[in-house]
Amino acid sequence: MPSTFYVTTPIYYINSDPHIGSAYTTIIADVVARYKRMMGYDTFFLTGTDEHGQHVLRSAQAAKKDPKEFSDELARRFVNLWKELEISNDAFVRTTDDYHVKTVQLFFQKMYDKGDIYLGKYEGWYCVNCETFWTDKDLDENNLCPTCQRPLEHVKEENYFFRLSKYTEPLLKHFREHPDFVGPDFRRNEMLRILEDGLEDVSVSRTSFNWGVPVPFDSKHVVYVWFDALVNYVSAIGYGWDEEMFNKYWPADVHFIGKEINRFHSLVWPAMLMSMELPLPKKIFAHGWLTVNGEKISKSRGNAVDPRVLIKAYGIDAVKYYLLRDIQFGNDGDFSEDNLIVRINADLANDLGNLIHRTLSMISQNFDSLPAPSEVGAYDDEIEKLTIETIKEYFRFMDEFKFTEALTNVWKLVKFGNKYIDLTEPWLLARDISKKARLATVLYNLSDLIRNVAIMLSPILVKTSDNIFKKLGQKFEGIETLGWHKTISGVKIVVGEPLFPRIDTKKWKKVINMTKEEAQKTNENSQVTIEDFSKLDLRVARIVKAERIPKSEKLLRLILDVGGEERQIVAGIAKIYTPESLIGREIIIIYNLKPTKLMGVDSNGMLLAAKDSNKLRILTVDGQIDPGAKIS
Ligand code: MSP
Repeated sequence: MPSTFYVTTPIYYINSDPHIGSAYTTIIADVVARYKRMMGYDTFFLTGTDEHGQHVLRSAQAAKKDPKEFSDELARRFVNLWKELEISNDAFVRTTDDYHVKTVQLFFQKMYDKGDIYLGKYEGWYCVNCETFWTDKDLDENNLCPTCQRPLEHVKEENYFFRLSKYTEPLLKHFREHPDFVGPDFRRNEMLRILEDGLEDVSVSRTSFNWGVPVPFDSKHVVYVWFDALVNYVSAIGYGWDEEMFNKYWPADVHFIGKEINRFHSLVWPAMLMSMELPLPKKIFAHGWLTVNGEKISKSRGNAVDPRVLIKAYGIDAVKYYLLRDIQFGNDGDFSEDNLIVRINADLANDLGNLIHRTLSMISQNFDSLPAPSEVGAYDDEIEKLTIETIKEYFRFMDEFKFTEALTNVWKLVKFGNKYIDLTEPWLLARDISKKARLATVLYNLSDLIRNVAIMLSPILVKTSDNIFKKLGQKFEGIETLGWHKTISGVKIVVGEPLFPRIDTKKWKKVINMTKEEAQKTNENSQVTIEDFSKLDLRVARIVKAERIPKSEKLLRLILDVGGEERQIVAGIAKIYTPESLIGREIIIIYNLKPTKLMGVDSNGMLLAAKDSNKLRILTVDGQIDPGAKIS
């Protein structure tokens, strides 16, 4: 049986825009998923959106939208963001998905039948923002939500309750028998303290609104949004609809969450699973909160920075490297743009970038291909020993989610690579033909160190690692190739440009607090030159024929007149435009786009369209102009 690994993130409320804080957990979970895949585990990585509840309902009402439509629109934003951040999730669960709703009802019914859910009356406080019930004893004199500091609402409702109190002892026993159940240790201890005080029953349904999963046996009630949300971890992997998949991946290996939702995950969720007689997750890891440049992340402060702005300015690999290297996973941490720039310049451009560029340049100057090792010399033992040690330490740290330590350790090796160059002085060896054999060994050893570094970095610096492999003419052939002297020699290498250009801090404008548009315009590396633009051949084309592509909801086949030339393109606009409405219209196309096939149909060019959060419109010209006219 191959080993499996199941990792999750919280499912995010759709009504807040994702910011660097919410992206943090997903980035970490992605790194772990990629690491486990690399280690050969059959990995399942789940993320998704939490779409029911009063907060979402109110936001939908404020936007004058039906809550389901509102959710559809906003859930897409998360799906797209994760794509842009190269998140490798295997599934995306939405709590409005049918299979999820059914599984929630199954849980509710079974727990009710067992006597673990009973009807009662709730009177107390509720935070709509956090969707959390609070009692008087949780509050200080300000009567604000202890988590988000917003005003609370007084609630008096008939509710179903979950007999959480019944599970105090079984949970205590589980915590004692599984000291690693909740991490980091100080978070486990917080939970233990709550348990030792004894748990109270909790409300698990609402009656004052109906945007939620209906309670199967009482249509006046919808299931409380947290009960609903927690079930995602099992509904998404088949509980209630695909037993085989469920048994394959459950129990989860780790739920990654932020510290503020630890009680729900470490106490309520395990108790629900105990009630359902299901195994508990192996680990819950509650990390700290990020601030941005020292301040709490909030829309009103303008620092709820869109992760897209950051990756556009700095590149996804650099942002990820910084987050994992500088912020001690588990503790609170600060996202500082200054420190990000320091890391890019010092670690990525200087240490790693230079090591690779120097090594590859020397290979290309002195050999036709990557040389094989031959004459052993001073410092070779050291570089070999350190590589082997680093690999061992890397596994240990990654397995414990100690990313800062894992990267610091890899960087010791990177720095040693640069030192090995200084010690072995390959530029002197290159001057003396009799030392060519020694030069070959030195450059092979360096290439081998770099290849090992690239493997270790691959779950984090995905593109960079891929680039390094290409530069060295290597292919990644599995984790067994992580080790000394497993680089293939005799292959062509590519020197190319240094991997990370240095940021000139004097000229650079920082992007936090800028809007996405401003950030795009400001920094040089996101600007295009007129030469870049002139590579695009944009032309006016008249649509002469349009038809739907069978079996596709989105695609239309368009026949165009481009100044006497007939062209066929495929466009994803069928949901917005009927074929008839397009005939005779003059549109703008990219004329010199590489041809491709979509749903088996040739597409030779692409039409331009503008898109906002909910509309799409094709670009046309202002008045009559001959088809084929160039756009400049
Ligand atoms: N919908 C619930 C979770 C249900 S899981 C069964 C929820 N959603 S949320 O949109 O508010 O997301 C909260 C999570 O986002 C945190 O637990 C954390 O993972 C992440 N973060 C949000 N802000 C963050 C920071 N400022 N810093 C780090 N992580 C942050 O709660």
